[in-house]
Amino acid sequence: MENLLYLLSACLLIIGLKMLGSPKTAVRGNAIGAVGMLIAAGVALLLSRDAGGAPLEISREALIAIGVGLAAGTLAGIIASQKVQMTAMPQMVALFNGLGGAASALVATIDLFNKKAGSSVELTLSVPAALSVLIGGVTLTGSAIAFAKLQGLIGGRPLVYPLQKPLNLLLLLGAIASCCWLAAEPLDSTPLYCLAGVAAILGVLSVLPIGGADMPVVISLLNSYSGLAASAAGFVLGNNILIIAGSLVGASGLILTKIMCKAMNRSLANVLFGAFGKAPEGAAEAPATASGGTVKSGSPDDAAMILDSASLVIIVPGYGMAVAQAQHATREMADLLQKNSCEVKYAIHPVAGRMPGHMNVLLAEADVPYDQLYDMDQINSEFSQADVALVIGANDVTNPAAKTDPSSPIYGMPILDVENARTVMVLKRSMNPGFAGVDNELYGRDNTMMIFGDAKETVTRIVSGLKDL
Ligand code: TAP
Repeated sequence: MENLLYLLSACLLIIGLKMLGSPKTAVRGNAIGAVGMLIAAGVALLLSRDAGGAPLEISREALIAIGVGLAAGTLAGIIASQKVQMTAMPQMVALFNGLGGAASALVATIDLFNKKAGSSVELTLSVPAALSVLIGGVTLTGSAIAFAKLQGLIGGRPLVYPLQKPLNLLLLLGAIASCCWLAAEPLDSTPLYCLAGVAAILGVLSVLPIGGADMPVVISLLNSYSGLAASAAGFVLGNNILIIAGSLVGASGLILTKIMCKAMNRSLANVLFGAFGKAPEGAAEAPATASGGTVKSGSPDDAAMILDSASLVIIVPGYGMAVAQAQHATREMADLLQKNSCEVKYAIHPVAGRMPGHMNVLLAEADVPYDQLYDMDQINSEFSQADVALVIGANDVTNPAAKTDPSSPIYGMPILDVENARTVMVLKRSMNPGFAGVDNELYGRDNTMMIFGDAKETVTRIVSGLKDL
């Protein structure tokens, strides 16, 4: 019965995960996954058996502790889902990843401590326990640094210091050695503390050098790590569903990491060895081509006039559109343009905003038809035929320095070629840089017009302007 229910739970998790792949089915997929997890937790609590096959006895104290933990976790989840802004989701995911990794490491550790009374621990238990402590420790502190960077508590720029790579390599070797030590001596607490300490330092020092623009890769990788830590803890406990659920998170996180690497034009090896997020070797000698041209600004009425005579407009949404909640006004503006026989397309950069699919979710919320959304590879060649590239709160994903300035931290990241449009209109509040902290030379180009102000207010005023024409 126990394994049958675990099988049902695993199927629900897999179906839920599959449904998360499309915005149309994602909400239902999430609910199905939650039911799968509820079944798994219920079975683990009520139907688990010990190694001898006898029903597991849970003491009254343990049941109370589990109940209190469950209530506190549920409450925290409900509050987070209500209070946390959409734009702060990556921080929340980073926090959850870290806590997930820490929980797995603790579960594995406690299981080892409980076994102290017994005689010997098989390698099949001690190796996954050691791996869980290592991966869980790295995930906890790495996620804490990622959280601090995303929340702006520490600067988003890569923190680089002398001998960084050799030190990280040394730490990695130390972590592997401590891991082997703990696997060989699982009943000794010294290797356990040693491994936990090295893993914690490794997590901090491997995420610190990573620049703000590369955070999407880091978050997905840490997400994958938290799954692997859970899976390893599943081997320690002999719990099949924990192994399956952890592997699903680990694998899907790795797939997402690969997609994010492609979006940022980084290799997975770069990610794993922490050598990314800073300018490539020799960059200092390379000539910087970014030019400080004169910035021209216009009003929403100027924008309405140009848009009124356009026949192809490509809208480029970014993080600022999410902050301003300008998606509904943008949809209204697009409707007006289309009524005026203008073709409207949306260019979606894979890391625009602060989480994968951020722009797709916002535009779906405003009922923008899905067939008007184009991926970067599909749309980039069309900018040269566009009358207007209308950049709404996007910055880094349009920065030509990624193509022209080898000294830039975002050099090599594929961007949307908005500068090829006849006119580029940029809606933002100031000349402040985007998430990567890099100035954008696009703003000084001859064909660029800045329209300063909150994106929602500006688009609303453009809508009024279009109606008045
Ligand atoms: P950003 O480069 O962060 O630029 C957003 C711009 O929006 C800012 O320059 C800001 O300028 C403007 N803005 C903010 N509030 C606004 C408002 N109310 N009205 C109008 N404009 C507003 O955004 P992006 O181009 O979407 O690029 C995303 C960046 O985040 C990339 O560097 C990416 O690597 C990183 N990142 C992405 C993810 C994922 S998975 N998508 C996760 C973590 C990090 P003002 O302050 O002047 O208004």
